[in-house]
Amino acid sequence: MKEINHTTRFTVFDTFPELPEDIQSLMNEAIAIRKNAYAPYSKFRVGVALLLDNGKVVLGSNQENAAYPSGLCAERVAVFHAGAVYPEAKIIKMAITAASDSNTTAAPIPPCGACRQSIAEYEFKQDMPIEIYFMGEIGAIYKSDSLKNLLPFMFDKNFL
Ligand code: THU
Repeated sequence: MKEINHTTRFTVFDTFPELPEDIQSLMNEAIAIRKNAYAPYSKFRVGVALLLDNGKVVLGSNQENAAYPSGLCAERVAVFHAGAVYPEAKIIKMAITAASDSNTTAAPIPPCGACRQSIAEYEFKQDMPIEIYFMGEIGAIYKSDSLKNLLPFMFDKNFL
């Protein structure tokens, strides 16, 4: 019997101005697109901006449905949008922000489990890690150098 320690690493930026300038503008795009969320049920708006290696920025926001599971998170809207429009491009950076219509979200909001699995697919597809930044409406911003920090022991194509 033995134990395995799995280390994950995040960088914490306590305030927005601490972010590199290119990330501030990517995050500002995520903040702006958050307003386009269709979230009549949860009132929880998530915005995502992706920077691709072809220089394009691809955006996403969560899209809900009266049949709840038929809705889709902002992260998957964004990465599927990127995959659909620019299938050859690599995703370099990802900015995520979330804000509730009913209270101020101060905690950094990470992608949900299903979104982590979907983002992981793109890291494998492009064979390059994605820098991921996530925040709430205000407060600290967390950065991960790769999706791998968010999904240890991920399932991928190599197991098939
Ligand atoms: N949501 C996202 O867009 N991303 C996540 O990673 C977590 C949750 C959305 C789904 C739903 O529209 C609302 O936030 C509340 O769960």
